[in-house]
Amino acid sequence: MSQVVQTRRLQAVDLIKRKAEGRKIIALTAYHAHTAGIVDAYCDFVLVGDSLGMVMHGMESTLPVTLEMMILQAQAVMRGTSRALVVVDMPFGSYEASREQAFLNAARVLKETGAGAIKLEGGARFAETVAFLTERGVPVMGHIGLTPQSVNTMGGFKVQGHGAGDEDRLRADARAISDAGAFSIVLEGIVEPVARAIATDPAIRAATIGIGATAACDGQILVLEDMLGLSDRVPRFVKSYGSLRAHIEEAVRAYADEVQAGRFPAEGHTYPPR
Ligand code: KIV
Repeated sequence: MSQVVQTRRLQAVDLIKRKAEGRKIIALTAYHAHTAGIVDAYCDFVLVGDSLGMVMHGMESTLPVTLEMMILQAQAVMRGTSRALVVVDMPFGSYEASREQAFLNAARVLKETGAGAIKLEGGARFAETVAFLTERGVPVMGHIGLTPQSVNTMGGFKVQGHGAGDEDRLRADARAISDAGAFSIVLEGIVEPVARAIATDPAIRAATIGIGATAACDGQILVLEDMLGLSDRVPRFVKSYGSLRAHIEEAVRAYADEVQAGRFPAEGHTYPPR
């Protein structure tokens, strides 16, 4: 795939244009400057997801992730990127209490990181918050379906959209968030026909981004470490595009063997006297 030549950083509105033009939106997560620098050339947006709690820190869920953690990693991702839109997840507890709480924390994220948008989880019940933020200059990406921050109320990481009632709820969630002004909505872990119905709903202006959803979405996202083969266990929707764990293990084993055998460092890795 060729790299995209771009002179300025993409913005939230560019994703809506991509949808109108029928050009697929490419996205991956990144939490570090170096990986962000690699994906920047190929992605329209890079998500600093709160999945970093599980992927980087080995947490059981995303619930313990703090605003400070998100800001720190978003700053690193901003340093590593120059063209992609950077979207930062609002962690659990940073936006649910009130529209005002959501605005103050979202504004802090945008000010302290320079990122172009925030993402928050939840459907119709957050429509008012989405409208409050967008009216005040905060571009919002929604996230519906399997919303990991609701793991305790969902009874686990469960695929959504089974049954007519659930389908109606999800379709209403997507419309509510889009009508409230979200420029994009992540559809995560939703049964295919329901996700397809949302992605092709002409009433939805927001660009739909699928993860475990449908190819009919306007774009797709995966967690970088999952698709590179670094994660221990991955959901069904992840396609493996690499096996970095095996490569890293091979390199670490070779290093350990060479240190043990006295073959590393060799003369070329030491400093001769002047
Ligand atoms: O936190 C995250 O990585 C996400 C993606 C799975 C969409 O929200």
